[in-house]
Amino acid sequence: MTYHDHQHDQAPAVAITALTKRFGDTTALRDVSLTVQPGEVVVLLGLSGSGKSTLLRHVDALEVPTSGSVRVGGTAVHDLSGRRLRDLRRQVGFVFQQFELVPALTVLENVLTGALATLRGPRLGLWSYPRRLRHRALAHLDRVGLLDRAYQRADTLSGGQQQRVAIARALMQDPSVLLADEPVASLDPESSGQVMALIREIAAERGLTVLCSLHQVDLALSWADRIVGLRHGEVVLDTRTEGLGKAQVMEIYGQVATSTDEFAAVEALRDAPAHATSGQRA
Ligand SMILES: Nc1ncnc2c1ncn2[C@@H]1O[C@H](COP(=O)(O)OP(=O)(O)O)[C@@H](O)[C@H]1O
Ligand SMILES: [Mg+2]
Repeated sequence: MTYHDHQHDQAPAVAITALTKRFGDTTALRDVSLTVQPGEVVVLLGLSGSGKSTLLRHVDALEVPTSGSVRVGGTAVHDLSGRRLRDLRRQVGFVFQQFELVPALTVLENVLTGALATLRGPRLGLWSYPRRLRHRALAHLDRVGLLDRAYQRADTLSGGQQQRVAIARALMQDPSVLLADEPVASLDPESSGQVMALIREIAAERGLTVLCSLHQVDLALSWADRIVGLRHGEVVLDTRTEGLGKAQVMEIYGQVATSTDEFAAVEALRDAPAHATSGQRA
């Protein structure tokens, strides 16, 4: 079943309506509207400073809108507090560019921390977690191909492996939405492809909705169902990737680039070395 089947009988996974966010004089997001259906893999594409992180942070209620609204599974997120806020945060998994693992803990303990939101009180050490959670954590590590690393310190792993651990940690929440903020920006092309492939596969297996920011057109075209382009906090492109070419995406970016600096940045985006993983999507 594809997400189309759900379109008319289910709340959108994420519904952003007329979202504006200002930080002092800076308008980070301007009148952004975006509806994401369950199971859809959407890439937010934009240059540095275009508002990608701010948008993702609103979905996890880490920012309060200046105006407009954000709904996850039909629930307005910025009205929540206490238990209902924790429930929302449980539904939304988040992975980051710098992985954000605890370096001195084992891989398995890092994955287990993903379940903290579902537990009462702090945990210290592997054996303080219920056995069923330890089993689930090992199963997720197996899924991301790192079962054999479970008892190693997290900081002994490569970047790509650490990001896969972070994905396993997010799965401990059993999320319905996965947010990924430039998850491959610190990785080499091969690891980037592995991580993006894993995100797509897991999304398909679990019916997970993915909102992932990237700044490379090639990667976005390779891995997204749909690309939403942001520029200066505004949506300038919102299109399905099927049948879409890099030239078309670049043309839109070229049209919206106004300053010389921005043209240079867009050119740099275009000229980024062709990615080893382009077109390898399963
Ligand atoms: N907490 C903040 N305080 C002030 N300005 C911010 C804050 N977060 C983001 N911004 C500004 O908002 C704009 C969008 O930033 P961001 O969402 O981080 O963009 P991106 O992730 O696309 O690089 C930038 O101009 C940035 O400087
Ligand atoms: Mg960012």
